[in-house]
Amino acid sequence: MTRAFVVHEYGGPEKLKLEDIEVGAPGPGQIRLRHRAIGINFVDTYQRSGLYKVALPFVPGNEGAGDVVAVGPGVTDFAVGDRVGYTGAVGAYAEERLLAADKAVRLPDNITYEVAAASLLKGTTAFYLLHWTYALKAGETILVHAAAGGTGQILTQWAKALGATVIGTAGSEEKCEIVRKNGADLAINYRTENFVEHVRQFTGGKGVDVVYDGVGAATFEPSLDCLRPRGLMVSFGNASGPVSVPRLGILADKGSLYVTRPTSGAYFRTAEDIRTAADALFNLIELGKISVAIDHTWPLEKAAEAQRALEDRKTTGSTLLLP
Ligand SMILES: NC(=O)c1ccc[n+]([C@@H]2O[C@H](COP(=O)([O-])OP(=O)(O)OC[C@H]3O[C@@H](n4cnc5c(N)ncnc54)[C@H](OP(=O)(O)O)[C@@H]3O)[C@@H](O)[C@H]2O)c1
Repeated sequence: MTRAFVVHEYGGPEKLKLEDIEVGAPGPGQIRLRHRAIGINFVDTYQRSGLYKVALPFVPGNEGAGDVVAVGPGVTDFAVGDRVGYTGAVGAYAEERLLAADKAVRLPDNITYEVAAASLLKGTTAFYLLHWTYALKAGETILVHAAAGGTGQILTQWAKALGATVIGTAGSEEKCEIVRKNGADLAINYRTENFVEHVRQFTGGKGVDVVYDGVGAATFEPSLDCLRPRGLMVSFGNASGPVSVPRLGILADKGSLYVTRPTSGAYFRTAEDIRTAADALFNLIELGKISVAIDHTWPLEKAAEAQRALEDRKTTGSTLLLP
């Protein structure tokens, strides 16, 4: 038996129930993993609340790292004792789990379990957003919302490593200080300042090439006013609530803009996709160009408290559960 959280019905953090479950032996193409660290992500809260539907009952969580303790038939890439991490596989809030081997990546010696579990989902997201959703080039300017958050901090550092100019928003002065420490050229407290005015002033009225927006409802429309003509709005999350676009013509009015709503599932379709992104992430961590901020750690049994802190905007950087 292993201890795991189970969601039997959608709702608030109180719907996370700690239970003893049977994990079983890995089936064909699977490995059994003993977690050493588990990443908490905003998507975990969407799946728990039912905003994103996962078939009930389910073990929540999408990111983790640990040791392979068993391999199923047909698995040739991994052996018992390997250190691995993964992203994009529901079932992480548990001491042990089964995992499709093609979701796993081998951890380089100098990548700890904690760094892997704090960065694989957020960092591979930063990779695809900056390379595949839009091929960001040196000299271009972007706006990153919630830039002191888990994804925002990695996105900011990665964009700076590519030579871009980065404007970051955050919800307090302390968070803005973190945004600046990560290399952003301008940090705006969007709870007290009008970020559209600041962006237009900073860019000399030109606007930014791309907006990366994981905040959603609260920032979507004003963000369109931050873009240059034919700029790209990347709406990749909904921390403040989901976005709806009532009238397509708004994109014409604001300068023939582009909008995309990407998800990692559509970008990481094969083991090779995810390994390409993870290799690029680990390489930048090893080069010291990305520092993964593990600002909050909780014991596994405190998953509900950890999710509450994330939803209440009380966190910065990455949050881990330690089994
Ligand atoms: N599409 C994808 O592939 C993908 C992948 C990874 C993440 N995401 C999305 O990226 C976003 C960030 O994810 P994360 O896990 O790294 O979380 P996070 O950024 O660490 O936390 C969310 C942050 O959003 C900001 N926020 C603004 N309004 C909020 C509100 N009303 N309620 C709660 N938070 C609010 C807060 O920062 P301030 O206090 O500074 O405003 C908060 O700290 C989420 O929307 C997530 O779903 C999408």
